[in-house]
Amino acid sequence: MSKKIRIDKLLSNVGVGSRSEIKKYIKSNLVKVNDKIVKDSGLLVNPQSDFITFNQKEVNYKEFIYIMLNKPSGYLSATYDKKDKIVLDLIDKKYLSYEPFPVGRLDKDTEGLLILTNDGQLSHRVLSPKKHVPKTYFAKIDGKVGYEDIKAFGEGVVLDDGYKTMPSILKILKSDYISEIEITINEGKFHQVKRMFESVGKKVIYLKRISMGKLKLDETLKLGEYRELTEEEVKLLEER
Ligand code: URA
Repeated sequence: MSKKIRIDKLLSNVGVGSRSEIKKYIKSNLVKVNDKIVKDSGLLVNPQSDFITFNQKEVNYKEFIYIMLNKPSGYLSATYDKKDKIVLDLIDKKYLSYEPFPVGRLDKDTEGLLILTNDGQLSHRVLSPKKHVPKTYFAKIDGKVGYEDIKAFGEGVVLDDGYKTMPSILKILKSDYISEIEITINEGKFHQVKRMFESVGKKVIYLKRISMGKLKLDETLKLGEYRELTEEEVKLLEER
C-alpha cells in the first residue's frame, strides 16, 4: 500500500514549483484532488489512488527516484558537507525534493558509477554483504600485477585491520610498470580496493566503478553527468 504524502510535497517533488509557489497555486484554485479544489497545502493524498491535477493537467507522481551518476573525482559521496563539494551539487535542484542519497560511498578521488536514490530498502539490499551484489571497478596500479595477486584475491586477503576479505575476482588487462585491472568484490569495506592492493604491497593510482550488480555505467555519460534509470535498469542493480 502506498503511503500518504502532503499535496505540497508531492507537487514540489514533481517539479511544479517551490513550496511557497505551490501555496500560491493552491490559493489560486489551480490544484484539484479527485475533482475537488484543494484548499489546504498540507492535505494528505494517496499518490496511487487519488487523481491529482495541476492547472487542469494530470500530475504523475513517483515515489522513488533512481539516478545514475558518473561521479567525478573531487566530490564526496555525502548529502551534506561543510567544506567539500558533494555529489548532490551535481544534480538538478528539481530532484532534491525527493531527498536522494548515494547508495554506498565512493572515495572522494574515485570516479564512476554512483546511484542516487530515496529508496532506502533497495539501497540496503544492494549494499548488504549477505546479498552478494557484485561491484566491479577498473583500476590503474603502480607496479606489475600478476598471477600471485589473482590467487591472493581469489582466496581473500587480510586488510590492515585484520579483516579477511571475501574472495574476489581480479582480471589483469595490462601488466606493466603501471598495470590496469578489473576487480569484482561482493562487499564494501572502507577503501576496500585500495586496502586490498596495499595488502599485496601495491598502490591504486586510479579507481573507477564500472558496474553494480548487472548494471553497467552508461559510458555515454561524461564525468559529472547523470540520468534517471529505467525500470529495467533498477532491477539489474540487484542481479548477480
Ligand atoms: N574501494 C576503494 O578503495 N575506494 C572506493 O571508492 C571504492 C572501493
